Amino acid sequence: MENREQWGTRAGFILAAVGSAVGLGNIWRFPYVAFENGGGAFFIPYLFALLTAGIPLLIMEFTLGHKYRGSAPLSYARMNKKAEWLGWWQVAIAFVISTYYAVIIAWAIAYTYFAIGQQWGDAPSDFLYGEYLQLSEAPGQIGSLVPSVFIPLILVWVITLGVLFKGVKKGIEKANRIFIPVLLIMFLIIVVRALTLDGAALGLETFFKPNWSEIMSPSVWVAAYGQIFFSLSIAFAIMVTYASYLPRKADINNNAFIAAFSNSSVELLAGFGVFATLGFMATTQGVAVEEIAAGGIGLAFMVFPEILNSFPGLNGFFGFLFFGSLVFAGLSSLISIVETFVAGVQDKFKVSRAKAVMIGGGLSALISLLFATQGGLYFLDAADYFINTFGIALAGLVSVVTVSWFLKELKPLQDHANTTSDFRTGLWWKICLGIITPLVLGYMFVLNLIDNLK
Ligand code: PHE
Ligand code: NA
Repeated sequence: MENREQWGTRAGFILAAVGSAVGLGNIWRFPYVAFENGGGAFFIPYLFALLTAGIPLLIMEFTLGHKYRGSAPLSYARMNKKAEWLGWWQVAIAFVISTYYAVIIAWAIAYTYFAIGQQWGDAPSDFLYGEYLQLSEAPGQIGSLVPSVFIPLILVWVITLGVLFKGVKKGIEKANRIFIPVLLIMFLIIVVRALTLDGAALGLETFFKPNWSEIMSPSVWVAAYGQIFFSLSIAFAIMVTYASYLPRKADINNNAFIAAFSNSSVELLAGFGVFATLGFMATTQGVAVEEIAAGGIGLAFMVFPEILNSFPGLNGFFGFLFFGSLVFAGLSSLISIVETFVAGVQDKFKVSRAKAVMIGGGLSALISLLFATQGGLYFLDAADYFINTFGIALAGLVSVVTVSWFLKELKPLQDHANTTSDFRTGLWWKICLGIITPLVLGYMFVLNLIDNLK
């Protein structure tokens, strides 16, 4: 097989995988999803999904990349010619995600700057939709490019494509060696500060209060699986691609456990930080934590600015750290998403990395401009909704069913992974991937479909 680029060190690979996994999903998605779906009781479906789907699938994707040494389409094709399309499908999802993920990082860059003097003023939500996004009145109306989004967006693409130009070891690995430690330090400072705020205990109590009746509800299990897939960056061809740069001698099973548990630790920490802070705001305003709890864009760009306005000292500094963490967490994930289709193009058309970055990355950058227009937010909502509804569960479902039921490749993949590691997976691995995961994902897909037909 051809000479493929390689990671410089084992830590380099793990950092890159963790960099991909740890993203906006950890910081703003997890705390809210957990809170909405049973609070403390959510940890049962969450752990179940992690152990029966997340880690087994991560092992499978690492193995595919390591064994067949190709981007996702090439790896699937080498396993079985008829499976190449699976790789391309996942690449397509990664491509769509990259176009709007980049835009949110651009917002976070702008807000890192705004945070220094709380430039969002007294009404952060008006500021977000009005002054910042200049949102058009009518959905579907594109309007003109918004400079305050467009300019940081260019920066996002310059950094991302610049890193990818440099290649695996000198680009991706090096960037993650800087981004991840910086992210962790910034993030830990905020979490510690959050836990020492007035009202922190109240926030945590609200977060962890187990709502046991919820765990019988199917939608809670669906939420747990959705969170695990998005958060671990699985079923998007990313982990196959990153594993294709592993040296022959690499411990697949242990690396998967390390990456997965690091990702979950950051999620848990974010849960502490976010809810402690919400507890502080609830206490100062004399309202219930439930009333102000939010996730996603609302949490980061509306609730947090408001909290920062009434922060007891060093408002600018903590705001800078918070949005800065979003930027670093987001960039390391974006790099992995874009690398996925860059590698796909490179392998398929036998072009140089530089050309593939220009074509693949350039195209995504171009499309992302749509989200930097006055109508951008509407398109962003639509894209995100579409991916979450049809992309994740379905791509995961089709790939496990194809690999395990139609191609009967689970056993050979498992044997391969087991030769690399002193931690050997047994029958449970095949049961999880061949039976439990397809059942749950199939159910998830049907549920989503019915929901959409209504
Ligand atoms: N795992 C990342 C997060 O938690 C998001 C992501 C999704 C990254 C898909 C790559 C691909 O935010
Ligand atoms: Na994550």
